[in-house]
Amino acid sequence: MCGIVGCIGIENPVDYLIDGLKELEYRGYDSAGIAVKDNNEIKVIKAVGKLKNLEDKVKNVKFYNPEFGIGHTRWATHGKPTEINAHPHVGKFSAVVHNGIIENYQEIKKFLQKEGIDFISQTDTEVIVRLFEYFYNGDSFEAFKKTLEKLEGAYAVLLITNSDNKIFFAKKGSPLIVAKGEGIYFASSDAPLIGYANRAHYLEDEEWGYVNENEIILFRKNEKISPYFKELPASKESAKKGGFRFYMEKEIYEQSDILKETTLGRNTPNGIKFDELDRSFFDGISNIIISACGTSYHAGLVGKYLLERDAKIRTNVEVASELRYRAPLLTKDTLFIVISQSGETADTLETLKMAKKAGLKTLALCNVDNSSIVREADKTILLRAGIEKGVASTKAFATQVMTLWMLSNYLAQKNEYDAINEAIEVTKVDISLHEKIKRLSKRYLHGHGFFYIGRDIFFPLALEGALKLKEISYIHAEGYPAGEMKHGPIALADEDLYVVALLSKNILYEKTKSNIEELVARDATVLTISSEYIEMTDDFVKINKTNHPMVEFFEMMVITQLLAMEVAIRMGNDVDMPRNLAKSVTVE
Ligand code: F6R
Repeated sequence: MCGIVGCIGIENPVDYLIDGLKELEYRGYDSAGIAVKDNNEIKVIKAVGKLKNLEDKVKNVKFYNPEFGIGHTRWATHGKPTEINAHPHVGKFSAVVHNGIIENYQEIKKFLQKEGIDFISQTDTEVIVRLFEYFYNGDSFEAFKKTLEKLEGAYAVLLITNSDNKIFFAKKGSPLIVAKGEGIYFASSDAPLIGYANRAHYLEDEEWGYVNENEIILFRKNEKISPYFKELPASKESAKKGGFRFYMEKEIYEQSDILKETTLGRNTPNGIKFDELDRSFFDGISNIIISACGTSYHAGLVGKYLLERDAKIRTNVEVASELRYRAPLLTKDTLFIVISQSGETADTLETLKMAKKAGLKTLALCNVDNSSIVREADKTILLRAGIEKGVASTKAFATQVMTLWMLSNYLAQKNEYDAINEAIEVTKVDISLHEKIKRLSKRYLHGHGFFYIGRDIFFPLALEGALKLKEISYIHAEGYPAGEMKHGPIALADEDLYVVALLSKNILYEKTKSNIEELVARDATVLTISSEYIEMTDDFVKINKTNHPMVEFFEMMVITQLLAMEVAIRMGNDVDMPRNLAKSVTVE
C-alpha cells in the first residue's frame, strides 16, 4: 500500500513532505520520492530503499524558494522497485504521485505512444502525467479534468505543474485526505497530518479539485461542493492503527479493500488477466507442486482443491521444510509454485532453488517485490496486500487465497467475476457481528483445547483458523477434516472440548452436519458458522446465503480471525507480537 503526502502555503514544504513520508513508513515501501516547486522549476528527488536514503539525497539539494510539493512511498505493483519506477512521475513540466491501479493504462500508453509521446517507466502511473500534458493547452484545470475522464481503475492522485501554483487532486477507490492548518496538506492516512493540521476533509470517491495557498476547490463529479471538516485524531500511534486496538484488527478490517487491489485489473468481466504472465508459460504443464510454510501452506491447500476441481491439473501441496529434505520426484511437466508473504522464508526459498535446479518452471505468489523469492522465481504474481504488521497473518492469507482462486480461473478459462466481487464484499467486517463474536468469545477461554472442523476447502480454513487461535491465544487448537474426527480425535470430546464447525451450505452440507451431530452427542461445546441455522449447537454465527462456496469461505475466514483475536485479547495477550514468533522466518 503506497503512501501519499502533499502541501502548499507553508514556509518549508520539504520538511512536511519528509516528516509525512516518515509517518507513512509503517505501511511499508520499497522506494520514495518528492517533487517540489522551487523558483519556477519542479525539483524531483527519488531514492530506492529506506527513507533515510531519500532524506540524505534531499539534504544535498539546494532549494531557493520552495513553494509547494508532493511526495510518495511506493510498494511495487507494476514494475520493479527502481528509481525510475518510483514516484513522483514526471513529464516535461508536471509531476504526479498516485496510489491504486490504472486499469486501462496500457490502452492509454499505446494511444500516447502513437501520438509520439515517450515513456520512461514501467508503471501505470506515468500515463497520468503524460495524459495531462497531452491535454494541456494553457489551462491546467481543464487538462486535469480531461485526464480524470480517461482514467479507469482506482486512484488517489496529486499532480503539480510548473504553470500553476496549485496542487490538483482526485480520489476514487484509494484513500486521500485534505486538511487545513497553517497551510493546506494532503495525506493518504491521518498520521502525517497530526501536528500540522487540525481539520480534515476525508475525500469520498469521485471527489477531485485543486488547492492553492489558501483555499480548497472541491468537486464531487461535476458539482462544486464545500469540504466537510472533521477533527483529526490526537495520537499518531492510534492514527497508524487507524483507531483499532491492534494492527491485526486493522488488517482484518482492511481485507475487503486490499482484495480490491489484489483483483484490480486481473478480475475483469471478460475473465482473469495477469499482465505478469503469458499463457505460453503454462505450455507442457500437467502437474503443479505448491510449496510453502504456515499460513501460506494453508492457502496452498485451498489452491489444490480449486486447481484440481476447476483447472483439472494434478496439484500437490508440500510443507517446504519437509519437501527440501526428501527426495521428491520433480518432473519437467510440473509447475513449481511457491507462496510466501515475506518472500524471505528460508525453507520455501530453498525448495524454490531445488525446483529450479531440477529445471522446473517456477512461479511465486508473493507480497514483497524484490524479495529473495521474487528474485529467484521465473515469474511472480504480487499479492498487493501492503505491509502486514501483525505477526499473525490475516490479509496476506486472504490475498493468497484470492490469487490462487484467480489463477485457477485463469487456467480453467473460467469466469467467476461476480462471485469474486461478492467474496470481496462479504469480507467487509460487519460491526454487529464483531460485537457478537466479542461477547461469545468469553465462553471459549478455559477448555482443554479446540478443534476446527470442515470439509473440502473448509478443511484448510479449519487449519488456518486453528493456527490463528493458537498463535495469539496460546490455547491448543487443531484443524481437522470433519469426516476424520470419528477416527480418533472424537475420544477427546466432552463439554470442555471446544469445536468450531465450518458448515458450508454448498459443499457436503449434510455430511458435515452429521459430523457436528456426532460431536454434540458426545457433549462437546460447539460453535457453528453457517448460513443455515442449526439449533443443536451451543453457539451459532450466521453468514450470508450464497451459492458459491468461495464466498462462504471468505466470510467464514473473517469470523475465525475475529474469534482468535477476541479470545487472545480476553487472555490479555499482545495480539500483534505473540510470544516466540517472528514475522519473517529466515532460519531453518
Ligand atoms: C502465521 C504466519 C506464518 C507464516 C509462515 C510463512 O500467521 O504468518 O505461519 O505464514 O511463517 O511465512 P511467509 O508467508 O512469509 O513465507
